[in-house]
Amino acid sequence: MSRGPVPPEYVRKLPVYVPGKPVEEVRRELGITDEIVKLASNENPLGTSPKALAAVREALDDLHRYPDGGGFYLRQSIAARQGFPAEQIILGNGSVEIIEMLARAYLGDGDQAVFSEQSFVMYGIAIAAMNGKGIRVPATEDRRHDLDAMAEACTPETKLLFIANPSNPTGTYNSREEIDRLFSKIPDSVLVVVDQAYFEYIDRPDYPDCMEDLRNGRNVIVLRTFSKIYGLAGLRVGYGIADREVIDTLNRVRSPFNTSSLGQIAAIAALDDTEWETRSREENLRELDRVQAALEQRSVRFTPSVTNFVLVELDRDVRELFVELQKQGVIVRPQGGPGLDRCMRVSIGTRVENDRFLEALDALL
Ligand SMILES: Cc1ncc(COP(=O)(O)O)c(C=O)c1O
Repeated sequence: MSRGPVPPEYVRKLPVYVPGKPVEEVRRELGITDEIVKLASNENPLGTSPKALAAVREALDDLHRYPDGGGFYLRQSIAARQGFPAEQIILGNGSVEIIEMLARAYLGDGDQAVFSEQSFVMYGIAIAAMNGKGIRVPATEDRRHDLDAMAEACTPETKLLFIANPSNPTGTYNSREEIDRLFSKIPDSVLVVVDQAYFEYIDRPDYPDCMEDLRNGRNVIVLRTFSKIYGLAGLRVGYGIADREVIDTLNRVRSPFNTSSLGQIAAIAALDDTEWETRSREENLRELDRVQAALEQRSVRFTPSVTNFVLVELDRDVRELFVELQKQGVIVRPQGGPGLDRCMRVSIGTRVENDRFLEALDALL
């Protein structure tokens, strides 16, 4: 018999989040000595802004001090950039921590939260961790959130509705018109969480900046992150902007020093480095086009993407393919779940990295 307390059933049943496989792990397991290309976690392949790196180096002597728990200066920087007062901003240990805070703050036993079946897996896990009830709504044929069906899925017990816009792992987005229609249909009692982790990468005229919805008085929290275009995934900083009341509620469930001093300092510098941001966006758009054209040329099925990753669909066992690609030193992210069991997500890397992926794919197909 095992010792110690038995966790509640809803905890025992929680799935464990499977992250992109680290380079070192693949090297160790497969004994690969060549350069390994990681296209598994949608990181910025160009690296971190040089200005952010310089700021971090300068701050190293102060690591014995606790960080500023509320992240005053970073919230000031975000406030200046986004045009909201700092009191409407909360920082997270990655935006994923804000997703967890939302579940912790708003979901009691059996409370409902609606999300799309083909979206970020952490929504379902965060909801289940609070013993909430996740309502999974099927995606449209072209792998977008079905916002009409999501609005219809809301009941008086629904507290949260998560929208990944654009969505991960599909790389698709919902337009301004669709978002407006959603808000016209859902009850006021639902807080809409618009997760825009890849916002800065997108170059589409009908792609909505959901800060506008907040400005227009809609019941919404917008999440953004420093892990993607800003190249700071290792330092774990994300932020959310919402009404003061929502931010006040989230602060009650936030752990005291949830973002690190280096994370805060790096994020301030990265926000300032618009040159790095622009270069990262432009290079991604170029490489995204090139990779998608190469897939088309090979008649490999994929979902057209607006992000820094592509969902590739194959008529083969995707787990097997994942292992075969690893043997060639390329790490991708196999998918699973409704409609995704033959799919793998491939991040857009540098030109050299993308060529390595395409060569490895050619060798296998
Ligand atoms: C849609 C979406 N939201 C949130 C996150 C979490 O990012 P982070 O916690 O690093 O800010 C990710 C990361 O992959 C994501 O794809």
